[in-house]
Amino acid sequence: MTDIDQKIHGIGIVPVIKLNRPERDAAPLARALCAGGVSVAEVTFRAAGADTAIRLMRSKRPEMLIGAGTVLTTKQADAALEAGAAFIVTPGFDPEITAYCVEKRVPIYPGCTTPTDYHAALKFGLEVLKFFPAEQSGGLAKIKAMSAPFPMFRIMPTGGISLSNLREYAASPIIFACGGSYMVTADLIETGQWEKITDLCRQSVEIVKEARSNG
Ligand code: 3PG
Repeated sequence: MTDIDQKIHGIGIVPVIKLNRPERDAAPLARALCAGGVSVAEVTFRAAGADTAIRLMRSKRPEMLIGAGTVLTTKQADAALEAGAAFIVTPGFDPEITAYCVEKRVPIYPGCTTPTDYHAALKFGLEVLKFFPAEQSGGLAKIKAMSAPFPMFRIMPTGGISLSNLREYAASPIIFACGGSYMVTADLIETGQWEKITDLCRQSVEIVKEARSNG
């Protein structure tokens, strides 16, 4: 694993963020995440201005690892990297974007949910994969079944993760980190509930810690 991988794994949680008003919300959100012990985030390109959000979060909290999510083109990957993104996440496996990032030595976590996807990722020497949408694709049971022929991968599930199933995922040694939007929902951000976000992050970090140490 790279240093970036190690840091994300150490935190264990990756908030998946969609910011409609980065100028207003990026700074307080970054503060709220860090206060909850989560100095990593995936800022998705589902909202226009994701690169602005990445830039603002990085400038307010340089210690944060901010990645770009829902990256669908190499052009978006470029915009994200120029803004200071430390890693790239794609919803599915895109060989062009993957090759582009590997060539630039930028960590990429592509969404892979089938043995065919895993085969493709293996060809690029990847070690960490996103598994999206996790719950809808078979959840931890499928992740475990896929790990039998592909034990070399660590998995970051996202999609349907919440405080109620986080522990189950985090307890598995196959799991690299868990991603989700439950601690940074549109409603929490829109209404500026920064303390609640901090609290959800704190609870999540605790759950991951406990799950990893007790299995
Ligand atoms: C993602 O892009 O990783 C997911 O949309 C996050 O899924 P969630 O909103 O169900 O947590």
